[in-house]
Amino acid sequence: MQLASRMSRLGTESAFEVLARAKALQAQGKSIVNLGIGSPDFRTPENIVEAGRKALANGYHFYTPAKGILELREAVAEDCWKYRHVRVDPNNVMIVPGGKPTMYFAISMFGEPGAEIMYPNPGFPIYESLIHYTGATPVPIELRESSGFSFSADEVLAKITPRTRMIVVNTPANPTGGVIRKAELDKLVAGLEKWPDVVVLSDEIYSRMLYDGEEHVSLYAYESIRDRVILLDGWSKTFSMTGWRLGYGVWPASLIAHAERLQINSTSCPSAPVQVAGIEALRGPQDAVAMMMKAFNERRQVIVKGLNEIPGISCVTPKGAFYAFPNITGTGIPSKQLEVKLLNEAGVAILSGTAFGAMGEGYLRFSYAASLDEIREALKRMKDCLATAGVPSR
Ligand SMILES: Cc1ncc(COP(=O)(O)O)c(C=O)c1O
Repeated sequence: MQLASRMSRLGTESAFEVLARAKALQAQGKSIVNLGIGSPDFRTPENIVEAGRKALANGYHFYTPAKGILELREAVAEDCWKYRHVRVDPNNVMIVPGGKPTMYFAISMFGEPGAEIMYPNPGFPIYESLIHYTGATPVPIELRESSGFSFSADEVLAKITPRTRMIVVNTPANPTGGVIRKAELDKLVAGLEKWPDVVVLSDEIYSRMLYDGEEHVSLYAYESIRDRVILLDGWSKTFSMTGWRLGYGVWPASLIAHAERLQINSTSCPSAPVQVAGIEALRGPQDAVAMMMKAFNERRQVIVKGLNEIPGISCVTPKGAFYAFPNITGTGIPSKQLEVKLLNEAGVAILSGTAFGAMGEGYLRFSYAASLDEIREALKRMKDCLATAGVPSR
């Protein structure tokens, strides 16, 4: 067999590999605390499950329009109005199976050899993987702990060249929990006026997961660039629906037909009963979302405090999503090595910062989408493991 050469350029999301390794260790009888995967640990709210059940009973067994059921696209448009204060034409919304397809479609629409695509580093690993896959050159936007893992718009703008096709922005962010400051977004948008051909993929999948009174600033809300912003969001995180596979993209009018064609060439359409459940998620009661966020906030405080009490570790307080991204340079242990050590010796599954790009060296990612007991146990095991390894106390 001769595989296409692009297959050798495709990366992965190692959260799935760590999950498999953790499950294998569990199957051998080892006790594992899993803070590795970015999946909320709550069941999907019952009203949403019931809507999905009813849809199955009521005959939603067939293809839907490729862009998704109109009522769901209308519900997405209402949602954009409610949370982003932007009027969206439901015709420009495309429902997809999860957050990832919008990413895949957008990057494959613009990536090719000779093109440059900018992406956050450390950042969700699929951006860099897909950019490489298309043959385009990935240009990292470095996110630094010293600025709360926000970015400098001046730095981003300085890296744009005539070959730049797209900039990927993710706020609130995986893996850092960082939020890009409004002042930097304002500056970026103003600077983009000089580059009218540069498209923005705005990954806002954690847009409703913010703490400490932070408000989401959507790049989609800036009118001057709206005709070239692809907005990515979905149900996975907000409604704890990672296994249902439901997401959406809001596309510029000039791109929606291309996106639809990619959908027809790949998935045809998202699952029909799942789309009906998605309508209930957006239009039904939102108290379960508030309950989950309250729990995440409590866990966030426990994990950040606990991490800061471990010798060799320091952790800034994340402002969004459900990840803590502690600096581990004080341990003297490289990130990947510490990831493996914690899993094998302490039974704690977390991810090396390098799973999110080269600039994640010196960090680990903890997903605090787990119970307080599990979080406390993971912290205790980590502290003991590092003490055994001889990491000196401060
Ligand atoms: C930043 C970011 N975007 C997109 C996704 C993909 O979401 P989904 O699981 O709905 O495909 C994730 C999942 O972890 C994510 O962290």
